[in-house]
Amino acid sequence: MEFKEVIQKRYSCRSYKDEPVPEEKILSLLEAARLAPSAHNRQPYRFIVVKDKEKIKKLAEAARQSFIVEAPVVIVGVALDPEDVLPCGVPTYAVDVAIAMEHIALQATDEGLGSCWIGAFSQEKVKEILQIPENQKVVALMPIGWPNDFPSAKERKSLEDLVSYQ
Ligand SMILES: Cc1cc2nc3c(=O)[nH]c(=O)nc-3n(C[C@H](O)[C@H](O)[C@H](O)COP(=O)(O)O)c2cc1C
Repeated sequence: MEFKEVIQKRYSCRSYKDEPVPEEKILSLLEAARLAPSAHNRQPYRFIVVKDKEKIKKLAEAARQSFIVEAPVVIVGVALDPEDVLPCGVPTYAVDVAIAMEHIALQATDEGLGSCWIGAFSQEKVKEILQIPENQKVVALMPIGWPNDFPSAKERKSLEDLVSYQ
């Protein structure tokens, strides 16, 4: 797929077919995350690949979003050093993990897979379900699977609203 097409086709998929995702596809998503840029190239994150149906059900409950149970895979982006701040005052982990997770979403689109960013979840509950240490931070859940819905028209602000020049 052309890069432009990947950008245009990625959408938040909220229904998945009951079909497994081959291991090589999951690996290609993780490889896309591995190649993402990060501040000082530190890559201060871990990606937890959840396939266990019982755990996925618990994650869906922790996010109170039932469609997540349909996904055969959920990739969880975890920051290892959530206290680090960039010289510009922006938390490093949020930027680093977000870039890597979006690489996953874009690679998923290229593979014909659906994905959805999930930011509305209980930090405490997800940590408990996946036994993530207290000093780390879960940044996003990303269900992955074969789409069982269709994208709606993209509603976006105009460039005029988003961009200024000097
Ligand atoms: C940081 C972040 C958190 C999000 N959290 C959720 C979420 O918890 N549940 C959900 O269904 N969509 C979530 N979304 C998806 C957005 O609603 C979606 O990206 C936006 O409406 C644009 O639609 P599109 O992704 O289909 O282009 C999230 C997106 C981002 C970037």
